[in-house]
Amino acid sequence: MEVRGAAHSYPVLVGSGLLEQLGVRVRQHLPRKTCAIISDSNVAPLFADRIKSSLISAGFKPMLITIPVGEKSKTLRQVGAICDRMIAAGLDRQSFVVGLGGGMIGDVSGFVAAIYHRGIPHIQIPTTLLAMVDSSIGGKTGVNTRDGKNLIGAVHQPSLVIDDLDILKTLPPREFNQGFAEIVKHAVIADAKMFRTLQSWDAGGAPALQRLIKRNVELKSRIVAKDEHDRTGERALLNFGHTVGHAIERAGNYREFLHGEAISLGIVAACAISMKRAGLGADQRAAIVDLLRRFGLPIRSPSKFPRDKIFKALKFDKKFESGKIRLVVTPRIGSARVATNVTMADIREAVKQL
Ligand SMILES: NC(=O)c1ccc[n+]([C@@H]2O[C@H](COP(=O)([O-])OP(=O)(O)OC[C@H]3O[C@@H](n4cnc5c(N)ncnc54)[C@H](O)[C@@H]3O)[C@@H](O)[C@H]2O)c1
Ligand SMILES: [Zn+2]
Repeated sequence: MEVRGAAHSYPVLVGSGLLEQLGVRVRQHLPRKTCAIISDSNVAPLFADRIKSSLISAGFKPMLITIPVGEKSKTLRQVGAICDRMIAAGLDRQSFVVGLGGGMIGDVSGFVAAIYHRGIPHIQIPTTLLAMVDSSIGGKTGVNTRDGKNLIGAVHQPSLVIDDLDILKTLPPREFNQGFAEIVKHAVIADAKMFRTLQSWDAGGAPALQRLIKRNVELKSRIVAKDEHDRTGERALLNFGHTVGHAIERAGNYREFLHGEAISLGIVAACAISMKRAGLGADQRAAIVDLLRRFGLPIRSPSKFPRDKIFKALKFDKKFESGKIRLVVTPRIGSARVATNVTMADIREAVKQL
């Protein structure tokens, strides 16, 4: 499928067995020679060899850069080290970057592509469900700083995204499930029909998963296209569940919960606030919570989890910058808007109920 961005559009391929055709596919889009494959130490041993040989047989000269697994690699220092290696290997303005991994690698490799020689093409090969349905689309790239997540970055749209379903077979179940938090989010804010599909989801099989991924790519890219640089408020709808979710992630030192798990709790809180401030029906709230539970996602935080830390972490949220609270609410499944009448007390109450 073709994803239309504000400035240019790019293909997103969703299917099985795509890795083998990688070299040929890339050559159709990028008549260049040298590239850096950036991956992490879990993913590289699984897939990098296949990707390298597919690129080599199509006439490319790839170099592989493997960085340690996890959020701790999402730093400026790591980005600098990667750039140094690319410079040492002679990569130039005519080169391109292939990001092979989950959202962490997508953000790091995308940021490298955004700044290397002031910007070179970025090919995304997402390897987690979360990265396929969310982070690989929309062009947000960047790294964390000591004080917070994603505080430094750039918008740099990919040139090509390849979602190979076979790659997901090695993904641990907990990692797979967390992708559904963003999928449920997309359904709640924009697609009541997909919500019903999910209610009768039975692990589907490849064709159902392929359709689901395609639909999520479509939904996210459509929202992003209206507001690529996050200025008009349209893109903000994608933050549904993320205000409280980010605070929970931070309160758990990014170790207790995976991103999608924290977002699941954030969605539960956002639903409580939506009932109070946007007229969301109790039955719809229950259906959303029930759906999250079906995908093995948390809907209550552990009893010993420090609520205080969640409140403290809330004030780091970018949306609280000017002291005004703008929170995404859903009046009914399939729609969302930014509310300005939500109070800090509403948020506290919702968090307490978690
Ligand atoms: N740019 C955006 O728009 C955007 C949106 C959402 C999230 N993010 C970012 O994405 C990151 C989270 O992404 P994630 O959940 O994909 O995390 P991740 O990239 O850290 O991957 C999760 C774990 O799964 C492993 N893994 C990945 N693919 C695998 C596979 N196929 N088989 C076996 N193991 C595999 C990884 O090595 C890692 O240990 C965060 O840094 C977040 O900020 C960015
Ligand atoms: Zn998210």
